[in-house]
Amino acid sequence: MAEHERLRVAPSVLSADFSRLGEEIAAVERGGADLLHLDVMDGHYVPNLTFGPMIVKAVDRLTDLHLSTHLMITDPEKYLEEFVKAGSDAVIVHVEVLEDPAATLRRIRGLGARAGITLNPETPFEAVEPYLPGCDVFLVMSVHPGFGGQSFMPEVLPKAVRARELKRERGLGYAIHIDGGIDVETAPAAARAGCEVLVAGSAIFKASDPAGMVEAIRRAGTGALER
Ligand code: DX5
Ligand code: ZN
Repeated sequence: MAEHERLRVAPSVLSADFSRLGEEIAAVERGGADLLHLDVMDGHYVPNLTFGPMIVKAVDRLTDLHLSTHLMITDPEKYLEEFVKAGSDAVIVHVEVLEDPAATLRRIRGLGARAGITLNPETPFEAVEPYLPGCDVFLVMSVHPGFGGQSFMPEVLPKAVRARELKRERGLGYAIHIDGGIDVETAPAAARAGCEVLVAGSAIFKASDPAGMVEAIRRAGTGALER
């Protein structure tokens, strides 16, 4: 991460209380959240079901924060336009389901959003490497997609290290996000590996003070960089 850039924290609303979504979002916003991460699941690509563009649109009305929509769905192509229209500032797609990842990333940009690519823990870095020059976000999954509250998988961190190297060598502009099992214990290793955006769901929304937890996670990660 460039010295002048601060580590960013992206609460994942998956773990929020949806009956008081407005208050939950206001709390993390007050706590200094830099963006929000929205998990879309279709019950097919992953076993769980969450929400679609309608909720993204509702969240967009509740906040001015940048919305990063993570599509864990089998046919993302079909819904890209709807998710961008609903207010997604970035749309992140899984390389595993794409026939032509470069074309999908171009399409997302063409729709006016930032284009993100991600991969499951067992998918090798080589699967995304050719597409990184054409993306704005590279999301490293540090749990198996599908559920919040799982344990962090440190074995995925070399993917962030390689993405940071490639970014430096070739002067590329994508931001490196990490998603899954991030809390004050795991944020330091993620930050050291080069992750610039820490996505955290249960650590933030299940905390007694979600607003304070945003800053605590940022501090934990930043502390590791200063040492
Ligand atoms: C998992 C989702 C994550 C999830 C992270 O499939 O992609 O964004 O919300 O939740 P935690 O931080 O609880 O692991
Ligand atoms: Zn996610």
